[in-house]
Amino acid sequence: VLALRHAGQRSKGATAYLTLEPCNHWGKTPPCAPLLIKSGVKKVFIAMEDPNPIVSGRGIKELRKEGVQVHVGLENNGARSLNRSYMTWMVKKRPYIILKMAMSLDGKTALPSGHSHWISNKTSRKLVHHLRTESDAVLIGAETALMDNPHLTSHGVGRDPLRVVIDPRLRTNTSLRLYTDKGRTLVVTSPQASIKKMNLLRKKGVQILIESLKKSTFDLTSILRYLTKINVSQLLIEGGSRTAWHFIKNGLVDEIMFFVAPVILGGVGSKSAVGGVGFGSIGEALKLKHLSVSKVDGDLLIQGRI
Ligand SMILES: NC(=O)c1ccc[n+]([C@@H]2O[C@H](COP(=O)([O-])OP(=O)(O)OC[C@H]3O[C@@H](n4cnc5c(N)ncnc54)[C@H](OP(=O)(O)O)[C@@H]3O)[C@@H](O)[C@H]2O)c1
Repeated sequence: VLALRHAGQRSKGATAYLTLEPCNHWGKTPPCAPLLIKSGVKKVFIAMEDPNPIVSGRGIKELRKEGVQVHVGLENNGARSLNRSYMTWMVKKRPYIILKMAMSLDGKTALPSGHSHWISNKTSRKLVHHLRTESDAVLIGAETALMDNPHLTSHGVGRDPLRVVIDPRLRTNTSLRLYTDKGRTLVVTSPQASIKKMNLLRKKGVQILIESLKKSTFDLTSILRYLTKINVSQLLIEGGSRTAWHFIKNGLVDEIMFFVAPVILGGVGSKSAVGGVGFGSIGEALKLKHLSVSKVDGDLLIQGRI
């Protein structure tokens, strides 16, 4: 909107390029389509229509009605990628979910002892700190909380995300960094967990979400519904392998970011990136699109969309 205001003051009869359709009204921000019309812009390139059903198509219609030339679809793929969290929020009514893992060349995420610090290099880890600032919440399973005792912060890079721990039996101890460091933590637990421990955590400022279990498993869509309600539009899953499987099995991963370090850990007892029972056939396996491979110092970063 600020850029549009600027354009309005400086560039009469100019061309505007927008990644998303200008909305007529969005919360408290001024309506942008009228702003463009007022500024005298003659031609507008819009990469994609707003997927919000309340405003979709209205900005375009208004511009055309006033004689402004409107072209839709320029750099559409790029715009979809740029607006992916918003798109998922609007279309799927849940956060955009990224699964991030660090693994060895043989696909292991921890030693047989459970230790995993550090498989990836410093630069990769710095990238993850940035990814955390871009995410509204970071989620891990109870075992990772216990084994790694992670901070799950941005390490000073920017804002810290909400930390979410899935701990149905509330077996994580209250002295973990997740509960003692400053920042917000949400524990998802079940009615079977100790009420005394829940209260202890509440006293530490930890938020408790109680969800019922079905065959010892939470309904992730219910957890996501809650996260959506508290405005989590991008969720970063940071493991471990069983948690990753639950999300993958339920079709709840939109993007993967796998950091592959040039080391081999070996061991049949070493955790692999994704655990659980696995898919029954290759045909069912999760397939990735838009794959990219980049070098991060000595590590490889493999990214893909589902
Ligand atoms: N290299 C990496 O990127 C990386 C990242 C993270 C972790 N790790 C390593 O991975 C290991 C831990 O992985 P893990 O697979 O053993 O465990 P995990 O995924 O961290 O935690 C699994 C536990 O979380 C709870 N849980 C998760 N999803 C659930 C769901 N949908 N419903 C109900 N409960 C759910 C269950 O708790 P209950 O058991 O209480 O039922 C489950 O057993 C550690 O060694 C850690 O160092 C490596």
